Amino acid sequence: MATAAESTGPIAPRVGIIMGSDSDMPVMQAAAEQLTAFGIPYEVTVVSAHRTPMRMVDYAGTARKRGLSVIIAGAGGAAHLPGMVASLTTLPVIGVPVRSSNSIDGWDSVLSILQMPNGIPVATVALNASKNAAILAASILSISDPAIAGNLEKFKKDMEEEVLMKAGKLDDDGWPNGYDQLK
Ligand code: RP5
Repeated sequence: MATAAESTGPIAPRVGIIMGSDSDMPVMQAAAEQLTAFGIPYEVTVVSAHRTPMRMVDYAGTARKRGLSVIIAGAGGAAHLPGMVASLTTLPVIGVPVRSSNSIDGWDSVLSILQMPNGIPVATVALNASKNAAILAASILSISDPAIAGNLEKFKKDMEEEVLMKAGKLDDDGWPNGYDQLK
């Protein structure tokens, strides 16, 4: 029998990205891209709380057994998917409120995902902020995965350098910067 190290099969996903509709994908794509940048395997599919409730129950109920560690769930309008999935699994669920075509102004999506009752938390990121959902998922995985922790360190360092470069550009453009001149 082949050991895990010898296995040539696909790498098991560690994060499940689900969304209520394929119309959420333009928003949710950033989560997939960020997980790819961190080297974290993921799976992506549509699971609708309202249109495919039994698929949602099955997805959430089998997620841990299938090896997932975190679920990122995006939905818009009457956005029940993240909360319902959280009610069906003990895995951490990160909710992405989507400003969808059926959303009034985005607030309905935010509040549907954010205002969970005691006992069933959903870690809610900002409107359309699926990239942040992926970063939060990476932070959770980094607790027991040094490679992901290292990738997160580099990500933060790169971000810092980018901001300092932008600050330097303002200096170059002649804007007065009393803060850095004092150092
Ligand atoms: C929600 O309804 C989905 O998550 C999506 O954000 C929204 C609109 O879905 P479609 O009508 O575009 O399929 O359940």
